[in-house]
Order: sequence, then C-alpha cells, then structure tokens
Amino acid sequence: MKKKSLITLTAIIVTLLIVVFLTVVFSGIYNVGATDKHIAPVEWVFRKMMESSVRNHAKYINVPDTIDLGDKKLARKFYGAYTKACQACHGAPGREPDEWMYIYPAAPDLTSEAVVGKWTDTELFWIIKNGIKDTGMPGLGPTHEDGPMWGVTAFVRQLPNTSPQEYLIMEKWFKENGEGNAELDEYQSRKLKK
Ligand code: HEC
Repeated sequence: MKKKSLITLTAIIVTLLIVVFLTVVFSGIYNVGATDKHIAPVEWVFRKMMESSVRNHAKYINVPDTIDLGDKKLARKFYGAYTKACQACHGAPGREPDEWMYIYPAAPDLTSEAVVGKWTDTELFWIIKNGIKDTGMPGLGPTHEDGPMWGVTAFVRQLPNTSPQEYLIMEKWFKENGEGNAELDEYQSRKLKK
C-alpha cells in the first residue's frame, strides 16, 4: 500500500473512532442501568482488571504480628461493623442480602469459601480498606484505623466457616458485650435465609 493511501485509511479509522466515541458519550444510547448487564467479554475484562489490581496493590502489605485472623474472639468484636456496613449487600450466614440491594456487579456471597478463599489475607484487607471503584463496594480506609480493619478482615476470613447458629451466638454475645449496637435490632429483624 502506498504511503498516501495508508495515511488516508488511518485518518478514516481515527475519524470513525472519534465519531463512535462522541456518539456513545453524548447521545445517551448506552444503557447505564444496573439492570442491564455488560456483554460477557466486557465483564471478563473488568473482573480480570479488578483482580490483578487488588493482587498488585496488596503485595506491599504485611499482616501485623499481633493479628491472628483465625481468632474467633477478635472476629466477633466486629459483628456490629459487618452487620451495619456489609450485610445489606453481601448477606451473612443464614441471612440474605437486603431485597432492594439490586446492584451490578452483584456483591459476592462472602459466606462462600469459593469467594473468600481465592483472596489472601492482605488482599482481603486491601479490598476492605480501599473499596472498589464504580461498583458500590465502599472503602473503610478514609474513616477507620488499620486495627479495626484487620478485625473486619478476620471476620470476613472466618465467615465461610461460620454457621447460621454460630452467627446467632455471635449476635447474642455482641449485644451483651459489643459496642455501638443500637441499630442492630432493626437490622437483625430482617428476612432470614431459607
Ligand atoms: C453497597 C454494597 C456493598 C457494601 C455495603 C459492601 N460491599 Fe463488598 N462488594 C460489593 C460489590 C458490588 C463487590 C464486587 C465488586 C467487583 O466485582 O468488582 C464487592 C466485593 C467485596 C469483596 C471481594 C469479593 C470478590 O471476590 O469480589 C470483599 C472481600 C468485600 N466486598 C467485603 C466487604 C465488606 C467487609 C464490607 C463491609 C465493610 C462490604 N464489602 C460492604 C458491594 C458492597
């Protein structure tokens, strides 16, 4: 191909791309509704990018020597934090997420080992600290110290191995011993998982 026709072809392609870009951004034809899903390849790209980003950024974090993420006594102190800040979207042992929480991408089931088990401790901590852009997943970092965020990490790490019965026992313990539980009654009177 001659140099001149190559330049013409490139100019046409660039113009077309600009037209498509402007049309998508300004015409409103793209559906931003949470009820409308991405096509599978787009969904794959976003998910892959999210996973690679979390793994890369969490590389520089270490679990403090003083923290044992398997410690049940540590985890139960964060029952109140989880039920208040996370359960509406993610559900809990024996409990569905709130019915009206229809978001996309959907919040994964954190009682499933297939979901939680694929993240290392520091990756879980990073997600909880920073949240995930454009998904509704909030980051606790700007408003919380690292200590409590490790507590929430321990809570999430243990969730897949916490039965609905153990969750109720934790609730009872928290109500008697925990702090900041004023809104819990309302939260916990919500629908039980079938
Ligand atoms: C408003 C809804 C919402 C709330 C509240 C919320 N999350 Fe999420 N969370 C999400 C969504 C949506 C994703 C999936 C993001 C994605 O796919 O990129 C997610 C992802 C996660 C993940 C990674 C799981 C995975 O494999 O995608 C963890 C861990 C997590 N959240 C923990 C928490 C904790 C702990 C809290 C409470 C402090 C919380 N979330 C509060 C919506 C929420």
